[in-house]
Amino acid sequence: MSTGEFARGLEGVVAAESAICSMEGGLRYRGYDACRLAARKTFDEVAYLLLEGELPEERQLADFRSSIATNATLPASLAALLRALPRDSSPMDVLRTAASTLGTCDALRFDNSRAANLQKSRQLLGQLPLALAVFWRAPEGNALPNWRADASIAENILTLLGRGEVDAESVRALDMTLVLYAEHELAASTFAARVVASTLSDLHAAVTAAIGALKGPLHGGANERVIEWLRQFRSPQDAERWALEALAEKRRVMGFGHRVYKQGDPRAEFLREPCRQLAARVGQQPFEEIASRIEAVMLREKQLHPNLDWPAARIYYYLGLPIPLYTPLFVLARVAGWCAHVIEQHSDNRLIRPRARYVGPPPRDLP
Ligand SMILES: CC(C)(COP(=O)(O)OP(=O)(O)OC[C@H]1O[C@@H](n2cnc3c(N)ncnc32)[C@H](O)[C@@H]1OP(=O)(O)O)[C@@H](O)C(=O)NCCC(=O)NCCS
Repeated sequence: MSTGEFARGLEGVVAAESAICSMEGGLRYRGYDACRLAARKTFDEVAYLLLEGELPEERQLADFRSSIATNATLPASLAALLRALPRDSSPMDVLRTAASTLGTCDALRFDNSRAANLQKSRQLLGQLPLALAVFWRAPEGNALPNWRADASIAENILTLLGRGEVDAESVRALDMTLVLYAEHELAASTFAARVVASTLSDLHAAVTAAIGALKGPLHGGANERVIEWLRQFRSPQDAERWALEALAEKRRVMGFGHRVYKQGDPRAEFLREPCRQLAARVGQQPFEEIASRIEAVMLREKQLHPNLDWPAARIYYYLGLPIPLYTPLFVLARVAGWCAHVIEQHSDNRLIRPRARYVGPPPRDLP
């Protein structure tokens, strides 16, 4: 069989039909504008929408939250493993290990039905934040607060990660980023999840693969790099000099550019104002001035717009969250989208198995 046309990085290739997310004419989840969802709904409601197909009624939301709370526990063996991992492990590797280990002991591990996958998805929405907190806060040696069914996932995450009393504005800011991180069609990690699901492997295996894919700096890892770089600059002038230098040396500026959004990422545009407001609240306006200058340089020199990681990283910074947890926070949100895609793949499956164009040595005889 001959191979079709080659598209480097699969650019422009339509590899699935999906009813979860569309990107033409603005980002939509199940038909709803993602930025409007971020403005008006919690991540919990959006996770429900992605998984179930419709926004929840009040009762359905309460049941959803209660199910997440009931299942927000870890097997003792996993909790012990998380505490025993090297302290300098990447929290992304920790989450990947947690997802994989949870798959070994899940009561429904031999069941790939829609009902079982929905149950596993609800479990992961609580278990992954818990696993991250168990690892991150192990040195403190204290018991973690219990997951609260009467609080949103965003509030539970902030509490678990040790933010103490959390104020409504901080919860709202985190919630908006979680909604916008929750789903993005066939991003590399989601494609990885669908490839795994297409072999009729299970949801935990697909999520484990997806976390591995999200770790890289060209995908989720960009949000941590954004802040590590931004923090070096003392002034907008300093930042401009650096940005020009990076472009001249053909280095990538993290938080800019996108495979699909060439005219700007609507999610980054939406978060612009909330990010500025939060910066003003915590006295970080100078940091925003530095960020604005880099944005101006990137647009002027390369016509490159910021992507979601650019404001999301700054929001996490202003919330005082530790930098190594930024990409893991992306996981805690995107797991909703990954699970929705696994369920969709299983519901109408065909093995994903593309071809490669061979460019190696011509046929030759053994010496
Ligand atoms: C996201 C990304 C991987 C998309 O890449 P892509 O669609 O494959 O785009 P390309 O790599 O083909 O880049 C096209 C051109 O823009 C440049 N470019 C793209 N993103 C850039 C960036 N962030 N910084 C500097 N230059 C960039 C490339 O160097 C290339 O320039 P050239 O034509 O002069 O060689 C890319 O924009 C990137 O690396 N961004 C930084 C990482 C990031 O923020 N990731 C999060 C994505 S949500």
